[in-house]
Amino acid sequence: MKLFIDSGNVEEIKKAYAVGVIDGVTTNPSLIAKEGRDFMTVLKEIIEIFENRKDVSISAEVTSTEVQGMLAEAKPLAKLHPSITIKVPITPSGIKALKEMFKLGYKTNATLCFSASQALLAAKAGATYVSPFLGRLDDIGENSQKLLKEIRSIYDIYELETQILAASIRSHRQVIDCALVGADAVTMPYKIFEQLFQHPQTDQGLKKFLADWQTHNSRG
Ligand code: G3P
Repeated sequence: MKLFIDSGNVEEIKKAYAVGVIDGVTTNPSLIAKEGRDFMTVLKEIIEIFENRKDVSISAEVTSTEVQGMLAEAKPLAKLHPSITIKVPITPSGIKALKEMFKLGYKTNATLCFSASQALLAAKAGATYVSPFLGRLDDIGENSQKLLKEIRSIYDIYELETQILAASIRSHRQVIDCALVGADAVTMPYKIFEQLFQHPQTDQGLKKFLADWQTHNSRG
């Protein structure tokens, strides 16, 4: 399963990349706006971080709501680097744009997915990834795991190649739930990525090992 960082913060992305297990980055207009920096500059800096890695995906979202506008925005983004994955909302215009982008050979990420029917349409349009927003579904009392299982089943039954990129992640446990259901990738905020490492028993166990080793060595 691929692990992505959901962030527009270049320093966070650098720290996550340095660990060596990150396969890509997702951004969205809100994450970019939060940083208060120029979109293209941020994207170029993210691309530089991953320059030694092949098969990386860096999602950059269009903000037009009409097909021609989406395609016009996608063109310079796609030219930046082969890793750039054009993020398009699942609307009627978005689905048409995804189909056109498929014909142009762009990598795409069908975003703001909240239902299996939307995921089916994204796959039919040839999206590289579909991003179900799990946390936002749970926030309104719905069952995001059920959605994930439905999408996985539909994609498996019809051998659809679109990869499931689970998004809007709220906890490290949710990352494991996504893995168990067979999500192809999960994108998470940096703070959740940090939590993947943590367990109190690891800290206590390491402390004891090091203390015992110190005692053993000081005995000469
Ligand atoms: O990038 C898309 C998604 O992960 C956003 O998550 O936390 O704003 O619901 P969130």
